Amino acid sequence: MSWVEVAALDELPPGQGRRFDLGEHRVALFRVGDRVYAIGDRCSHAEASLSEGEVFDTEVECPRHGSAFDLETGEALTLPATKPVPVYRVKVEGGRVYLEVTP
Ligand code: FES
Repeated sequence: MSWVEVAALDELPPGQGRRFDLGEHRVALFRVGDRVYAIGDRCSHAEASLSEGEVFDTEVECPRHGSAFDLETGEALTLPATKPVPVYRVKVEGGRVYLEVTP
């Protein structure tokens, strides 16, 4: 595992997702206040891009069929999705955002 710098905190608009492709990882980053969450971008139901979903507190709603996912745990909270999406560790240092990924 290694930490990869992906963005400046100021580049992440609060309440909106942003997609990053890091090797085989397709990651959706969300800024909620001063916290940043990172989950797999592919919805576990039919692979819609969760970074394009609407954010409500610490949940994101899939733009295709409306399943809600918990940004902290990756759990699918509402149908039709039933499986979680991956969660990535994030750290913010000196105004820069880093993701922990396998190379
Ligand atoms: S693709 Fe996300 S709920 Fe169907």
